[in-house]
Amino acid sequence: MIPSVLPTYNRAPLQFVKGEGSWLIEADGRRFLDLGAGIAVNALGHAHPALVAALTEQAGALWHTSNLYHIPQQQALADKLVAATFADTVFFTNSGTESCELAVKMARKYFFEKDQPERVDILTFDGSFHGRSSAGIAAAGSEKMTHGFGPLLPGFKHLPFGDHDALTAAIDNKTAAILVEPIQGEGGIRPLPDVCLKGLRDLCDEHGLLLILDEVQCGVGRTGKLFAHEWAGIEPDIMMVAKGIGGGFPLGAVLAKAEAALGMTAGTHGSTYGGNPLGCAVGNAVMDHVTAPGFLDDVNRKAGLLRQKLEALVAGYPSVFEEVRGSGLMLGLKCVPPVGDVVSAAYDAEMAIVPAAENTARLLPPLTITDDEISEAVKRLEAVAHQVATTSDEQPA
Ligand SMILES: Cc1ncc(COP(=O)(O)O)c(C=O)c1O
Repeated sequence: MIPSVLPTYNRAPLQFVKGEGSWLIEADGRRFLDLGAGIAVNALGHAHPALVAALTEQAGALWHTSNLYHIPQQQALADKLVAATFADTVFFTNSGTESCELAVKMARKYFFEKDQPERVDILTFDGSFHGRSSAGIAAAGSEKMTHGFGPLLPGFKHLPFGDHDALTAAIDNKTAAILVEPIQGEGGIRPLPDVCLKGLRDLCDEHGLLLILDEVQCGVGRTGKLFAHEWAGIEPDIMMVAKGIGGGFPLGAVLAKAEAALGMTAGTHGSTYGGNPLGCAVGNAVMDHVTAPGFLDDVNRKAGLLRQKLEALVAGYPSVFEEVRGSGLMLGLKCVPPVGDVVSAAYDAEMAIVPAAENTARLLPPLTITDDEISEAVKRLEAVAHQVATTSDEQPA
């Protein structure tokens, strides 16, 4: 018999009833150090007082009106995002997947309006992840995500990660845009080096293409800048955002330059819930915190501390960990034994970490994690490494 919840997830045998800062708490009181943050969602940790206050205040005033009317919280959040980024305009969604949908539509509409309707193709990369909608799976193109779901939305070309020559060769008169994550999250914390991101920008400028960045996982302070592409000193034309922007409330956004958004006039796109007062009340509180003076400096300082300790851990347990990769508080530990074993051992050590491709365990703690919690996390990771190393030693050759 099929379970009452559609069985599409492989869930861990854990259930939490409460969250406090960097901690998740089970009904029996067991406290787990949360280095997953809902997969880079709880940017300010669990039950942050400012977010709780923003949400409850808004809940007492007005939940929902639809986008038939002006929504002041939405306007305020859009103004903040425009002031803080490359963007001239923002559309609010409820998730990263929906942000992907609009990014693709916006790029195609741009070329349609520019009398180049043949330009529909979007170039994407192996190992990428852009959500689970028809456009999202077609964009990523992996067998794992697309198997059995055909016919796939046409107009995506998949290229090897980091192969500049293949990319250049793939550009033709049907190409509209390049879509890329500055750091692949699901793909195993694979950063695109700054020089490559700059190269993509140059390539787009040279061929008149739009550069679409998917910062759903790496954005909103996660790498120590408000958005990850800022490290490379470039600007995209369109950017997908979600996860951290809502701090745990379902909220996403597409940010764009005026030129890229020129086709998106009244009636061309919409969402019932996108930019709803509750979501935007929380989003405003998140933005106020992440952009407050000193917040990102502290993220960078803590990221340095964690990285240093993780490098030492990897050096101490070469039979368990191969390398640390990533940026800021978006880090990956490439594992030697199956990553599933490492994640299970972390659960035994009362700590949540997140598996990803390339046999990598993701560490995506709340940006508010404290120095003491970082030390505690590394202590628990050492226990994990010890347990996994001992277990593999015991296995018959
Ligand atoms: C880079 C990236 N893009 C898109 C998505 C899809 O976002 P959502 O699950 O909110 O639809 C994710 C989710 O993990 C992601 O990491």
